[in-house]
Parts: sequence; C-alpha cells; structure tokens
Amino acid sequence: MAQLVDYSVRDGVAVITVNNPPVNALSVGVPQGIVDGVRRAGADSSVKAVVLVGGGRGFIAGADISEFFNPPQGRTVTIFDTMDALEGASKPVVAGIHGAALGGGLEVALSCHYRCGAAGSLYGLPEVKLGLLPGGGGTQRLPRLIGPERALPLMVSGDFVPAAEALSLGIVDRLIEDGDIVDGAVAFAAELAESGAALRRIRDMPTPRPSSPAFFDDFEKSIARRQRGFLAPFNIVECVKAAVELPFDEGMARERALFDECHKSDKARAQIHLFFAERTAGKIPDVPRGTPAKKVDSAAVLGAGTMGGGIAMNFLNAGIPVTLVERDRESLERGLGIIRANYEATAAKGRITAEDVAARMDLIRATTDYDAIADADIVVEAVFEEMDLKKEVFRRIDGIAKEGAILATNTSTLDVNEIASVTRRPEAVIGTHFFSPANVMRLLENVRGEKSAPETIATAMAVGKRIGKVPVLVGVCDGFVGNRMLAHYGRQAHDMIMEGALPQDVDGALYAFGLAMGPFAMGDLAGLDVGWRIRKRRMAELGLNRSDDPVADALCEMGRYGQKTGAGWYRYEAGSRAPVPDPEVEAMIVAESERRGVARREIGAEEIVERCMYQLVNEGAKILEEGIALRASDIDVIYANGYGFPRYRGGPMFHADLVGLRNVYDSVSRYYDMLGEAWRPAPLLRKLAEAGETFNDRNPGR
Ligand code: 3HC
Ligand code: NAI
Repeated sequence: MAQLVDYSVRDGVAVITVNNPPVNALSVGVPQGIVDGVRRAGADSSVKAVVLVGGGRGFIAGADISEFFNPPQGRTVTIFDTMDALEGASKPVVAGIHGAALGGGLEVALSCHYRCGAAGSLYGLPEVKLGLLPGGGGTQRLPRLIGPERALPLMVSGDFVPAAEALSLGIVDRLIEDGDIVDGAVAFAAELAESGAALRRIRDMPTPRPSSPAFFDDFEKSIARRQRGFLAPFNIVECVKAAVELPFDEGMARERALFDECHKSDKARAQIHLFFAERTAGKIPDVPRGTPAKKVDSAAVLGAGTMGGGIAMNFLNAGIPVTLVERDRESLERGLGIIRANYEATAAKGRITAEDVAARMDLIRATTDYDAIADADIVVEAVFEEMDLKKEVFRRIDGIAKEGAILATNTSTLDVNEIASVTRRPEAVIGTHFFSPANVMRLLENVRGEKSAPETIATAMAVGKRIGKVPVLVGVCDGFVGNRMLAHYGRQAHDMIMEGALPQDVDGALYAFGLAMGPFAMGDLAGLDVGWRIRKRRMAELGLNRSDDPVADALCEMGRYGQKTGAGWYRYEAGSRAPVPDPEVEAMIVAESERRGVARREIGAEEIVERCMYQLVNEGAKILEEGIALRASDIDVIYANGYGFPRYRGGPMFHADLVGLRNVYDSVSRYYDMLGEAWRPAPLLRKLAEAGETFNDRNPGR
C-alpha cells in the first residue's frame, strides 16, 4: 500500500507519511502501511528514530467513518496492530502533528513515545459526536497522560484542544512554532535518540487518581441533563473509571466491550448518518463544486429586531463588518443595545474577552440611511413579516445595492419569488432563513427562488458555513421545510388534547422520546400571543369568528401568554421555568371536547409519539416528492439543527427508516381510516414501503 503510506529516511530518521486524502483517515491499508514502516525502520541499523506524520492538510482525522457499517472483508491489520507496533518499537517514535489529530488519529499519536505539534494544530477525541467512544485505547492512554479529570470532559464533549493548550496539558511535548513540521519532528526525534531518552510508553504509566472519590458520580450528574438519551458519554465515564481502577490490558478489554455496545447501537448509526448528512447537504446537483461563490467581505442587515440583531452577530463573530439599518433612531439604539448586552453576557461567562466585545461592536456601522448599504457584498433583510413592506424594501435595496451583491430575505413564510420579482435582478435574490435565536441556532435554510442563480446559491451556502451555520438548500413553499412539517406535528398535538390527552401527556411522551421539550412547553416558551395574532389576522381575512385553536385563543384572552406572563398551557411559579400542569387548563380542554361532542379517551405515549413523528415523516415525504428538499437526509439535518430533534435518533426521516417504512406506512394508513384526510399517506411513503426501501441509505457513509 505504498500509495497510502510513504517511507523515507532523512538524517538517520525514518519518516512514515500517511497520504490518504482528504483527511488521512485510517482506511483499510493505512494501518498496514504504518506497521510495515515501523518494521522496516526497526530492521535498518542506520535508522536511529522514527517519525510519523500526515501528508497534506493534517495528521490523521481518525478511523475511516465510512467503514463502520461497511467493514472491509477478510483479516486486515488493525489500528491496534499499528499501536502495538509504534508503542513497542525499540527506537524512539515521534508523532509530528500539523492540522488535526482526531479520534483514532490522536490515539495513534498517543501510542508514539513523544509528540510534537505545529502551530495551529488541533487535538481531540470527537468519537462521542458519532455516538461512539475512543476505541483505540484513547480512554486508557489519555487519562494516564493528562489525568482523568482533564481527560474525561475532553472525551465527553468531543471538543478540540488547540496546540498551546495541548502543550500545557502534556498531550504534546514540544511545539514547532516555525518551519516545517517534518523538519521539526525529525530534529526532535534525532535529539531524543542521541540523548538516549527513555521510550515513553503511556500504557506503562500509572493513571493518576481523581482528587475526589466522588469525581465520577459528580461528573455523571453534571452531564445527566445535557446528554440525556445518549449512550456514549456514559460509556466513556465507565471506560475512564476502568483506566483508574484496572491494569492497562483489562482497561483496554473494557473499552472494547463498551465501544462495541455503542457501535452496535442505533444511536451511533443515527449520529453517523447525521455526520455524513451534514456534509452531503452542501452538495447541490445543479450547483456543482467549483461554482464560483462571490467574495463576502461586508454585509448589511436591514432591521435590528429579534432576528436582524442575531443575524448581524453571526457576521460580526466571523469578523465580517456589518452595516445595520433601521427605520428610526430609537429602534436602532434598541437593537444595538441588545447586541451589546448579548456580547457582554457572553463575556461575563468568560467565553469572550472585553476586547472581543469592543472589536465586534466596532465592526458595526449603525444607520437609518439606506444608502449606506451600497458597498455591501450581501444584504440580509429582516424587517417585519409583511409582503408589501418586504417588496418596498427590496425595491429600495435594488436601487442602492452594488452590482453583484447578494440580496437575501429572512422571511419565514412569504414567497421568495414574489419578493424577488420586484427587483431587476431576481437572480441575485435568495432566502436565508435563520432560526431564533439567530446567533445561536446552527440551522440556516437557504431558500432558492425560481430565478436564484447558481453563484447566488453557492455564495449563500459558503457564507452560511463561514459564519458557523449548517446551511441546507430548500425550495419555496409555505413554511419551507422545517416549519411546514412542524405545523403538521403541532396540529396533531392539538388534536390529541381534544381527543383525550392533556398537554403534559403530549409533552411528557415527546420529552421521553428525546425532544428538548414538547409543543405545549415550547409554545409557552416562545409566547402564545405570536400564534394568536396570526390566527386573528387570518380569521379576519377569512371572515371567521372561531379559529381552529379555541383553547389557545382563550388562554391568550385570559392574558396567559406563556412563561413571560407566568401562565400559558402550564402555570409557572415566580422565578421558575418549570411547567406545572394546571387544572384550570384541563377544565378548558375538557369543555372544548364536550362542545365538539368528542368522547375523550386515554391516549398512550406510544400513540402520541407515533402521531407526532409520522406527521413529520408523511409531510417530509411530500416535500421530497415536490423537490422542496433535495434529499431525506437534508430534512434530518434541518430537524437536528433547528428543532432540537435528538441527534441519536438521526432526524425524523432516519427514525422512520429505522422503524421500517412498511410499519410507518401501515400506521399512517390506519390513522387515515380512523382520523381522515390529514393522514392521507404520501405517495412516496407508500411507494418506498411497498418496495421495501428506505428514505436514506441503510448504511451511513456508503
Ligand atoms: N472518515 C471518513 N471520511 C471522513 C472522515 C473520517 N474520519 N473525516 C472526514 N471525512 C470526509 C468527509 O466526509 C468529507 O467528505 P466529502 O468531501 O466527500 O463530503 C471530507 O472528508 C472532508 O471533511 P469535511 O468536509 O468535514 O472537512 P473539514 O475541513 O471541514 O473538516 C475535519 C475536517 C475536522 C477532519 C472533519 O472532517 C472531522 O471532524 N472529521 C471527523 C473526525 C472524527 O470524528 N474522527 C473520529 C473518527 S471515529 C474513530 O476514530 C474511532 C477510533 O476511536 C477507533
Ligand atoms: P422584529 O419585529 O423583532 O424586528 C423587525 C425589525 O425591523 C424592527 O426592529 C423594525 O423596527 C425593523 N423595521 C421595520 N421596517 C423597517 C424598514 N422599512 N427598514 C428597516 N427596518 C425596519 O421581527 P423579527 O422577529 O426579527 O422578524 C424579522 C423577520 O425575520 C421576519 O420576516 C420574520 O418572519 C423572520 N423570522 C422571524 C423568526 C422569529 O422567530 N422571530 C424566525 C425566522 C424568521
């Protein structure tokens, strides 16, 4: 496998170079190449030390994730053989790390005797994000090297550690600040050989004991809420306990067993599905890689309200100057004040410095003068959600923005084509649908209009990535992908409280399924008055005097807007965000059922979850048929990043695949017979179910 791993000798030091682009994953053949290199160096008496480096962008980004569910056939040399060879070598072995040493890549480095890192190099064990744990000895070696109290949070978060911190932690022994990493590593290895330095085998080191006997229990408690439902974080705790309590080989056996448990679980399959799904979302068939994206060095944001302020912060965080335009001075000051307060709150938590706050605020040019947008490379409109206003604003933008600028709208419901139609350059117009809070939520639905040009799309996708979002391209329809599906989910929740469930039953079942909160608690958090105002407007337009959510309307009429008024679907004690079921609301719900002549019945958790999930899935299938989403995995990415859908379930479409589309289809058909039109099965669901197929690839990464 000479093409995957190169061997050369420089100044008496063997240099083993992994060349497996794009990220030097440990794909089949790479472990073999490394083992061969170590053997060759061992047998060559003119070689005094060995260096392991990565060619191209970085060191080694870990195991080849695409092989997890498509394992290579036959017996191959494994990562463990590699580690045994490196650690057991009789000459000093140095890992020379540039770019990223991640997962199995860092584990390989930890089985070298010494490590040196280039400036800008990154270290991490991110397996947890794939529903796995470091399964190449990482859970046993890292605690020995840096102590369990440092190692455990690193593995459970999957966070990357920058070079300077890696040095202070002791993950690397030397920083190569300037010059080529291979030169630096070779020089370091030669020094070690000449000085007769010991061959440091981490496996032979004792694991330091945690300072408190309660360390593991306390740690587990600290992650119980945030990691609810995941398997890997808790298995990692067990592994690190083993590193403290057991000899190395027994600890390794424990790691293997707990790794296998994760690997076999649907949770890992779901999380690995999302890993690839998030990368696939950027691939757009008619906007091929290489489509020139426009350079974006400046932005303008129109409207400094809830969304405009958050959108501006995304650009500022990425160092992109923002011209912030409001309709009047007062709104501008209010918007600026909120941005500043947000930054100051982040600084108070120690996540950024006071200088960062000042630097970001300095990047804002705040004005009420539209002419100031003339130089912006991208203009994002976030004014009130009214078509006439948006059209007026786009006409003005069209008259001022420079040629070549991207004109984006953050509309959540309006027709992007209609907005684009008032400009002389609809090809430059696109929807950029951010989610609230826009500076926090990772999802960005980019909405392509009929006339959006490939460069416009490529730019919106690239900008999204640059400001740290997960951009997904969708088409124009009411609610786009996420909110259109959510409306059906919400409708089901409301139907079920009319049929016999209570808000706490619905929310409880969905929380147990893994959602951050159910629809009623979510309504209370967001404010029930928002939907109420929309319903009232629609009723007025249609000349109706009753909406289809009379209980929600009645709650609002009573001033129960949710958490902010201390009551909504639930009651809230002063200063608490914990929802308390309210008998008064129950009575209102029961009365409305009676008024409708519905005989209430008990609705179990299974039915609640099925009905909410299958409405998402059925609508998702229609969205796919209409071409509004490019692929099922895009829908999963939308739900995992914008709607708090548990990552370990992989998104609604992947969940349906796991349940089996035949089963989903049968249930949807049964509900159709029982509950009528809202449950008419999507033809695509039926087709796939009958063909025994799935929405997504069965084996992620194939
Ligand atoms: N295996 C297989 N493919 C991988 C991969 C891996 N470990 N890491 C990245 N890739 C692929 C991506 O799918 C993508 O493919 P595509 O171009 O066809 O879409 C390509 O490499 C480039 O990846 P990114 O788009 O993510 O490139 P970035 O430059 O943005 O990021 C990175 C690079 C930081 C290395 C990022 O890819 C990453 O975080 N990779 C995953 C690292 C990881 O999780 N490692 C642990 C693996 S599990 C393991 O090691 C188990 C062990 O403990 C036994
Ligand atoms: P908001 O009411 O908080 O802010 C709108 C801002 O626009 C106000 O500060 C207002 O003064 C300003 N404005 C009004 N007319 C203007 C004009 N002609 N020129 C410049 N500024 C003007 O509204 P919000 O929530 O920020 O919504 C903005 C847009 O984002 C809407 O299209 C909305 O549908 C969309 N959106 C909202 C989400 C949310 O959760 N609030 C989520 C996703 C999208």
